[in-house]
Amino acid sequence: MLVCKTRLALGSILSKFYSADQSIGFVPTMGALHEGHLSLVERAKHESDVVVCSIFVNPTQFNDPKDLEKYPRPIEHDIELLERANCDVLFLPEVEEIYRGDDKWAIDLDGLDKFLEGEIRPGHYQGVTQVVKILFDIVVPTKAFFGQKDYQQLLVISKMVSKLGLNVKLEMCPTVREKDGLAMSSRNIRLSELERKNALALYRALQLAQSEFSTKSIQQITADATHYLEISPGIDLEYFQICDGLTLEPIRSNRGSKLVALVAARLGHTRLIDNVILKS
Ligand code: PAF
Repeated sequence: MLVCKTRLALGSILSKFYSADQSIGFVPTMGALHEGHLSLVERAKHESDVVVCSIFVNPTQFNDPKDLEKYPRPIEHDIELLERANCDVLFLPEVEEIYRGDDKWAIDLDGLDKFLEGEIRPGHYQGVTQVVKILFDIVVPTKAFFGQKDYQQLLVISKMVSKLGLNVKLEMCPTVREKDGLAMSSRNIRLSELERKNALALYRALQLAQSEFSTKSIQQITADATHYLEISPGIDLEYFQICDGLTLEPIRSNRGSKLVALVAARLGHTRLIDNVILKS
């Protein structure tokens, strides 16, 4: 795997692929890689001539400086995992390589960035879209691969792509789970043994919603899952919501074409999110 830290170095590696009109698969990450990220690399390998992964802990998407500081950065281990996954190129820029002083960014995301995650983490999706746009400009990917776990993130990026008319195809890949169902996340390593055990309630609440979907009303399912989470030990619930899968607007009936249940909670100092598609 080639590792490069600058736009220039990456450009010279990729130039032969651009000129041969070969497809570039891109997996943007913030590192602390796990099986979920590797599944994106694997999918990208199947669908592209060359795969670029980036590791960049993007400061503009953190609204809590402590969260940014605490974000895990096990770079040697990440490189090992990417080597084993046969990733072709790793782009590993410093902050100054991405942000060069001309960093004003504000994009109208039609409100998609204002609720759920966007409400709890104001400005987060402006930061995400800002860095993803810069990374897309640098890598010029044919396809970019994102995990379903960050469902709202993919919708927001997709909105940006369509608003700016970017020529990249976005692929959503299924959430990878631990054997007991916990969605893989870079934040899981921060959980204590007890928090790790308690965290299972998130997926169980989503499974409850799935099991009730064909027999109960959306209000009843939401009430049952919320109650389950509220009585689960160690869970500080932020939201459980069933939403339209395209607009993320909360829904009242199960008549929409795509429906998704999303949950976010704090376990001690760690914030986790998860979701399942109830109807696709
Ligand atoms: O999902 C992530 O890891 C990040 O939000 C992303 C897309 C790499 C942008 O920093």
